[in-house]
Amino acid sequence: MMEPEAVAAGPKSPRDLYRHLARLGDPRAYTPESCERFAGEIRAIRRLKSERNAVVLAHNYQRPEIFEVADFVGDSLELARRAVRIDADVIVFCGVHFMAESAKILNPEKTVLLPDLRAGCSLADSATAERLAERKAALREIYPDLAVVSYVNTTAEVKAESDVCCTSANAVQIANALPNRHILFVPDENLARYVRQNTDKTVIAWDGNCYVHHQITPAEILAVKEKLPHVKVLVHPECRADVLALADAVMSTSGMVRYAAESPAAEFLVVTECGLSDRLTLELPEKRFYKACKLCRYMKMITLADTRAALDLMRHEIVLDEEVRRRAARALTRMFELSQ
Ligand code: 13P
Ligand code: SF4
Repeated sequence: MMEPEAVAAGPKSPRDLYRHLARLGDPRAYTPESCERFAGEIRAIRRLKSERNAVVLAHNYQRPEIFEVADFVGDSLELARRAVRIDADVIVFCGVHFMAESAKILNPEKTVLLPDLRAGCSLADSATAERLAERKAALREIYPDLAVVSYVNTTAEVKAESDVCCTSANAVQIANALPNRHILFVPDENLARYVRQNTDKTVIAWDGNCYVHHQITPAEILAVKEKLPHVKVLVHPECRADVLALADAVMSTSGMVRYAAESPAAEFLVVTECGLSDRLTLELPEKRFYKACKLCRYMKMITLADTRAALDLMRHEIVLDEEVRRRAARALTRMFELSQ
């Protein structure tokens, strides 16, 4: 869990911000000029946050300059948990649409803003409530005790059709905690397979995957391991089974941060979206992180400029049908109950 030091310490000067971000070794994104611009946006966002009584929640995959305005940075489970105890009128969600929806599901009386409404998720798009209702009905003819477990990477409507939600951090725990023997796991086929391998339940997978993780191949991991056989390989469970087979540890994004911080190892290969390697590089400068990662185009749609504009104009609000919200809240609340 990261409570960004920048929030407690006050905004960095443009020079310090440049020094900080230059450590990422991306001279096209981080120049003295871009950091000057970012520092201005960061000052404006901090002022607007206090004027609007707003908090900023950010996912681990966000651009590192976004961390400078975040009140909390974490994985999907930590962000959902954090969203239930927010003392503010406005939540600005720097992440993707389903994450902002979860914050709204859990905080119906608060205004939840997503700085860019195009920031979706191809995995969440692979399941619709209508198709899920049909599949669930058909499968319950065969398995009357079937439970629908939906990954949080789903729309509010899909959550409303589900018995319980889970994240990459607690998927196995949720499957084990359910009294049901049969589970329809929606929508990630790779995470479903991982859950199946780690429970004795019958897990039926939906036909979906994350385009970011699914394109990572074993050859990319093996090429690094050949040169650096000592690196610890950290893999997100949205990756393919043949990639998971090469992992030293399979875990959520924040699980990787904790693992890297606590491990005596000094070098790691981080196999997930590239934002996580950036967070690790900035947070654990004494360790070395190699990348076998891809960018999520949706996560990277969120910028400081749009975050400032969202707060300034109070735009891009998440609005949910109350009946859908109430049913989706039940599935999220059950997740919290089953994974204390
Ligand atoms: P985490 O819950 O592990 O942060 O993952 C979220 C996600 O979208 C992975 O692609
Ligand atoms: Fe969705 Fe994949 Fe991007 Fe995560 S990394 S938000 S699952 S598209």
